[in-house]
Amino acid sequence: MSKFWKPGTERPRSSLIDDEEGGVLFVSASASSSGFGYSTLERQRQRLPVFKYRTAILYLVENHATTIIVGETGSGKTTQIPQFLKEAGWAEGGRNIACTQPRRLAVQSVSARVAEEMGVKLGEEVGYTIRFEDVTNSGVTMIKFLTDGVLLREMMDDPLLTKYSVIMVDEAHERSISTDILLGLLKKIQRRRPELRLIISSATIEARSMSNFFHDRKRNQGDAANDSAPSTVPAILSVEEPVGDILVFLTGQDDIDAAVQLINENALDHRSHSSGLLVLPLYSGLSRSDQDLIFAPTPKGKRKVVISTNIAETSLTLDGVVYVVDSGFSKQRFYNPITDIENLVVAPISKASARQRAGRAGRVRPGKCFRLYTEEYFMKEMSAEAIPEMQRSNLVGSVIQLKSLGIDNILGFDWPASPPPESMVRALEVLYSLGVLDEDAKLTSPTGFQVAEIPLDPMISKMILSANTYECTEEIITIAAVLSMQSIWVSARGVQKEFDEAKLRFAAAEGDHVTYLNVYKGFIQSGKSSQWCYKNYINYHAMKKVVDIREQLSKLLKRFGMSLKSCERDTQKLRKAIVAGFFANSCHLEAYSQNGMYKTIRHSQEVFIHPSSVLFRVNPKWVIYHSLVSTDKHYMRNVMAIDPDWLTEAAPHFYQRKRPNLSAPF
Ligand code: CDP
Ligand code: MG
Repeated sequence: MSKFWKPGTERPRSSLIDDEEGGVLFVSASASSSGFGYSTLERQRQRLPVFKYRTAILYLVENHATTIIVGETGSGKTTQIPQFLKEAGWAEGGRNIACTQPRRLAVQSVSARVAEEMGVKLGEEVGYTIRFEDVTNSGVTMIKFLTDGVLLREMMDDPLLTKYSVIMVDEAHERSISTDILLGLLKKIQRRRPELRLIISSATIEARSMSNFFHDRKRNQGDAANDSAPSTVPAILSVEEPVGDILVFLTGQDDIDAAVQLINENALDHRSHSSGLLVLPLYSGLSRSDQDLIFAPTPKGKRKVVISTNIAETSLTLDGVVYVVDSGFSKQRFYNPITDIENLVVAPISKASARQRAGRAGRVRPGKCFRLYTEEYFMKEMSAEAIPEMQRSNLVGSVIQLKSLGIDNILGFDWPASPPPESMVRALEVLYSLGVLDEDAKLTSPTGFQVAEIPLDPMISKMILSANTYECTEEIITIAAVLSMQSIWVSARGVQKEFDEAKLRFAAAEGDHVTYLNVYKGFIQSGKSSQWCYKNYINYHAMKKVVDIREQLSKLLKRFGMSLKSCERDTQKLRKAIVAGFFANSCHLEAYSQNGMYKTIRHSQEVFIHPSSVLFRVNPKWVIYHSLVSTDKHYMRNVMAIDPDWLTEAAPHFYQRKRPNLSAPF
């Protein structure tokens, strides 16, 4: 196994490692590019770099339990390998080929592409499953794309994943938390099912460490840039020749929407270079039709400018991109187990990501990457690789998932990268206080098992189950569905006043959760009208999804033997149910605070109500929040006013231990 490509050395043009332990294949990227976009799908397939490796790939899969495939983004790994496997008979006899992705949008987009290439209807021979959306047909579907999280859930019903003959864990270099857990579990499954085939594929993975992991060898275990990115686009337009699409990497939906608007405005001022621009945003949560625009060939005489999160870094391939603008930042999750605060923060990307971004330019002809940071910064300060998500996340969801799969010794679990013990302890503590784990750290029955079965954050799941006791399931599943959306409001740049007025029509004194009930009621009364949503600055697609998720949650509750009950106007019942899930996120307004500063009860962290909340500037004395976002300060999103007595009622152990005299000061 000494033939590995080492980072920093020239990668061999192609390389195949085939020994008794495993197979590793490096795909060299040399697609023929002439006439791209104007040829038949079949000819496009044959031009992809992986096509030349078809036999090698099938040979390795036939002969090895695990095959690792490393190839650049766009070389055809995701769309082609599952088809090769199907053509070679791996989906015969009712067996399935699975291909996992860390991102939902990628699952939808690649499955649609593969169905198109195979000339079949999506949901038949080729299907996909993401949370709350199953587009497969059992008995007919042969190739199934799914998120790594959904595959983990499937293990609850079928621990050995017996219906799959081959599982391709794609984008493994992203080291998402679910991918890492999945890899640990698949290794266990392989011992029980030697016939199962695994393919681990990625763009930049450290093949050696992955190979060691699977073969039991010796194991060792910016905002400034965001602001300047939009102005780089006109600069490219004025200096460079007028061909080729532009891909700009920013960090999140907000700055992307702002940049789209800015470039469009700029286009009006500088008709000469900016006319003919088609400026499109790209982030997860984009509607189907907006996604289609991104992948559709650029109309003649037009030039596409796609402004994207790091989703376009490796998960999706856009042909025709010649220029890349890299802000040097992405949104990343960071969890601090000491303060128990998990944040999505804008943070510098790694060198590996920077190289990936640059590699998106010039797939069809020589391209350029504009990096909005200095070479010195790249050389001296950027870290080489990103930290695996496992090591910077709250582990509550992961722990419960492993427990439900019967993995009791979680600290002893064979992780590809060990999580920090403090995060593990914190997760166990939260699950214990939620009543999900008992004193021996085993799942409680029925609560623990039911919480594990609901495909939502354990705190939301606990809230839903408590609603059964408080007889308000009807309302709570609506709230749970809304909370699982990014936002149900339409971002309202430039019309803030109208937007605030619209929001006031629904605002409830209790806070955002009850406000969402009012929105939902209005939406249903309007006959689920898109016009009504438009008028009220509400995202119609999000609301349709809410109705859908609500329906699925209601089915799940029926399965638990719980019927839907409404608390009518008694919001106290429903607020108690919410507290039963979210007591750990409680805060108290600082008595002398002039600026609305709260402190969290558990760790005395300073936090503020987010301006998007209906309680912004209202500042009730006691609140609980659903999540925190951090910019200049920690802001609470989705906030509800509470009575502090409910906290001790919901979680006596938790509050006694943390703060023996909680009720004394008031
Ligand atoms: O997985 P990998 O990055 O190696 O490549 P892929 O996703 O299989 O993409 C291979 C090719 O399929 C791309 O170059 C695109 O031309 C095409 N493709 C597409 O047109 N639409 C999609 N939704 C996905 C891929
Ligand atoms: Mg791919």
